Order: sequence, then C-alpha cells, then structure tokens
Amino acid sequence: MSMTANTAAALYLVSAILFIFAIRGLSSPDTARRGNMLGIIGMALAVGVTILRLGPSLSPTTLGLIGGALVLGAIIGILLAQKAPMTSMPQLVGAFNALGGGASLLGAAAAFYAPAAFGLLGANDAIIGHSMVELSISVILGAITFTGSWIAFGKLNGNIPGGPVILPLRHVLNILLALTLIGCVLGLLFGWAPPQVLFITLIVVSLILGITLIIPIGGADMPVVISMLNSYSGWAAAALGFGLGNFALIIVGALVGASGAILSYIMCKGMNRSFISVILGGFGADDAVAGGGGSNADRPVKRGSAEDAAFIMKNASRVIIVPGYGMAVAQAQHALKEMAGKLKEEGVDVAYAIHPVAGRMPGHMNVLLAEAQVPYDEVFELDDINSQFPATDVAFVIGANDVTNPSAKNDSTSPIFGMPILDVESAQTVLFVKRSLGSGYAGIENPLFFNDNTMMLLSDAKKMVEEIVKAL
Ligand code: TAP
Repeated sequence: MSMTANTAAALYLVSAILFIFAIRGLSSPDTARRGNMLGIIGMALAVGVTILRLGPSLSPTTLGLIGGALVLGAIIGILLAQKAPMTSMPQLVGAFNALGGGASLLGAAAAFYAPAAFGLLGANDAIIGHSMVELSISVILGAITFTGSWIAFGKLNGNIPGGPVILPLRHVLNILLALTLIGCVLGLLFGWAPPQVLFITLIVVSLILGITLIIPIGGADMPVVISMLNSYSGWAAAALGFGLGNFALIIVGALVGASGAILSYIMCKGMNRSFISVILGGFGADDAVAGGGGSNADRPVKRGSAEDAAFIMKNASRVIIVPGYGMAVAQAQHALKEMAGKLKEEGVDVAYAIHPVAGRMPGHMNVLLAEAQVPYDEVFELDDINSQFPATDVAFVIGANDVTNPSAKNDSTSPIFGMPILDVESAQTVLFVKRSLGSGYAGIENPLFFNDNTMMLLSDAKKMVEEIVKAL
C-alpha cells in the first residue's frame, strides 16, 4: 500500500501533535506515564507513515533491514532502560543523544550519496544549493552531538577522567575547525573541490570539533552539557527535515531543540552558569581546580545517632527534608516517606525542599519521591520554600551537599559561587545524613558541617533513616 503526500503530511501533523501532548504530559509526575505513551504512539505513527509512504518502492530486502533494525533497536532500548539505575540516567540520556546525532549524520550522508532517491537533484546533476546547506548543517550538528555526547557519557560514567582536559590554544583550535567547516560548506556550494572530499572533511572535522568542544568541560557542568547536546541533536534533525522536506523531522527536531535549550537555560540558572559560555563550550574549566581541599578530618564536628535525630525531630513543630544525590544512591526514599509519616503522626509538619540541580539530573528527586508516593503538595521548589527555613525547627539534609553549601553565597573563589542554594543553616537545627565528611559533586568542602547548630548523622542514608523510624 502506498500513501499520498497529503495523507502522509496530515498523519505527520497528528504525530507532531502527539509529541506536543507528550511533552506537556512529562511536565508533571502525575501525567508523565501518559505523556510517555503519547510520545511512543506519535513515534510509531511517524515511522509507520514513512514506511507506508515509500510503499511499493521498498524491496523485500530493504523492508527486512528496516524491520530488523526496529526489532534490534527496541530490544537494546528495553534492556538498557530496564538495566540502567536512576543514578545513571544522565549518561543514558547522553548515549541516546549520541545516537540521535549519529542518526541525523547518517541520514544526511545517505541523502548526499543518493540525492536522486530523495529528490534533491537540481541542474547539472548537483544537489540543490539550499538542500546542500541544510544537509551540511545536519552533518555538522549531528557529528558534534555524536562525539560530544560520547565524551559526556564517558565523563559521567567514569570511563574518562571527569575533570576538564584543557587543550593548548583550544579556542584558536576550535575557531580554526569552525572556519574549516564553513570553508567546506562553501566549497560544496561553489564546487571548489571534489564534493566527496569536502563532504568527508566536513564529517571528520565536525566529529573532532565535538570532542574539542566538550572535553575541556568539567564533570560538574556535564548535566547542562547533556541537555545542550540534546538540543543540538534536535536542531540536527530539524535541519535534516528541511533538507529532505520531511515535516515530521522538522517539527520533532524543533521541539527537541527548543525544549533542550529551555532545559539548559533553566539548569544554567540553577547552577548560576552563563548560557552563552555553555553554548560556546569550555565553561567551568577555570573553576574546577579550585576548592577540593580535604582538611575536614581535623576539624571538630557534632555527631549524633538515630535516637538523637528521632528525639529532635519528634519535638519539632516543622521539619523540612532536603534530599540529594546520596538519597538516590542509597534508595532511601521509601524509608524517608515512612519517617515523614511517623513524624506527621506526632503532629510534626513535614515538607520536602527540592533544589533544581539536586541529584544528577533535572527532576531526579521529584521522580524518586513520586515513586515513594510522597504527596506532591508536600514537595516544594527552592524559590517557594527558601524563605521558610528561619521558621523551621529542623532541616533534615539527606545525601545532599553542594545544594546547601553557603560558600555559594559568601566565598567568591568557590567554584559554585553564585549558585542559588537552600538556606538550611537558618533552620534551628540542621541534621546531615551522609557517610563521611567528604565533599559532594563539585568537590568542595561544606562549612556547614562544622556549625554549632549542625549535627552529623554519619551513615548510609537508608540505614540511618530506617534506624530513625525504629527510634520514633
Ligand atoms: P552532592 O553535592 O553530590 O552530595 C551528595 C552527597 O551524598 C555526597 O556528599 C555523599 O557524601 C552523599 N552520599 C553518597 N552516597 C550516600 C549514601 N549511600 N548514603 C548517604 N549519603 C551518601 O549532591 P547534591 O547536594 O544533590 O548536589 C548535586 C550536585 O551535583 C551539584 O553540585 C550539581 O551541580 C551537580 N549535578 C547536578 C545535576 C542535576 S541536573 N541535578 C547533574 C549532575 C551534577 P558521603 O560520600 O560522605 O556519603
């Protein structure tokens, strides 16, 4: 069966609308599953329409290859999604971005090598000028996303050192690479050299640029990079959509590109990074060597037990729980919900405060708390709850560190200076649940551990909370 271009366009529109509803659904944990399902239906529809549209022109071998790729991709996707723990979600997203960028690169290459099959031939048997530009943009963004995402994946997954790798004269190098890319595109347009040579150069130089742009960026800034590369992969797909005249790719690419850019912007604000310097790459490089310092061992801290914590919280009228990455590692969210339940039975008012970059990806804490069925109306964003700490008896910080570090406010040499933080120290008592006095993701000391109103509960988060529940 084949399909007219108009029917295909109408169905692509339906799939685009499904994608828009999917993103809308993903904006709240309540509706996220439905949103995901709409996205799956939208994607199945788009792929189905594309195959049906080609209809009789597809040979059984091609159909077999497409079917095989679909089945193989689905199996790998299902296995990966089931196996990857929540804490490695950023890496997983990074790997998916790489595949997205690589797909755009391959799509554009296919069109370059078989332009007639895509209806892209103009006069003199050359690819139509504007299509060539669009395909080139897709190649550049797709290839940068491909290698850049694997670097980001490697840094987050610990396959390559997380610190910034500063290449000599990196800005000059990047500018030279970018100029080479512009030269290649102009060369392809005006026939300055054999197109095959220029096209291969375009691919290779873009792949190298992906590495040189991302490798100088420190691990602490990787989440923003992942979301920025997500945006790049979207724009690469949109450019390919323009090149091939495919509406679905244009709309979906623009959706991914825009939402990735908005997410990057929100995360930049959460970490007080400049958006422009992220887009240019290499930010955070100068900071990452600062801080560090491991003199904590010599300084006195107040340590407490689960019984102490239970006693203090039982007698409080308001407790704010501040979860972070350590809660995710320990999978303490269910025990935490149980603890909150016990406190509420004692008449304590309990709320949760979520920092925008707590954990290792946006919404990390929200997802875990939702999984433990913490009511949404007890969970507050930083801006909504920060003013409430002075009127709070206990800030119960569990596996969070950087997001409470006051150096962000009062130490201009700190790598996290300017990042908004949760003002836990203005609560009457601060309880810190973590295993040691070690630092968090940014690798810097947290002076709060040594405050008079801080009590350290040094233990695995889940174990400590379970003991507190028993003591309650
Ligand atoms: P961190 O500052 O990384 O602190 C987490 C703390 O959890 C660590 O100090 C660690 O201390 C403790 N911990 C680890 N395993 C634990 C366990 N099993 N039980 C108890 N405690 C445990 O986390 P945060 O406060 O959530 O801040 C997030 C940081 O990550 C920020 O610097 C942010 O910029 C960065 N980041 C954020 C994202 C996003 S988008 N959310 C993505 C990547 C990076 P011990 O070793 O002493 O236990």
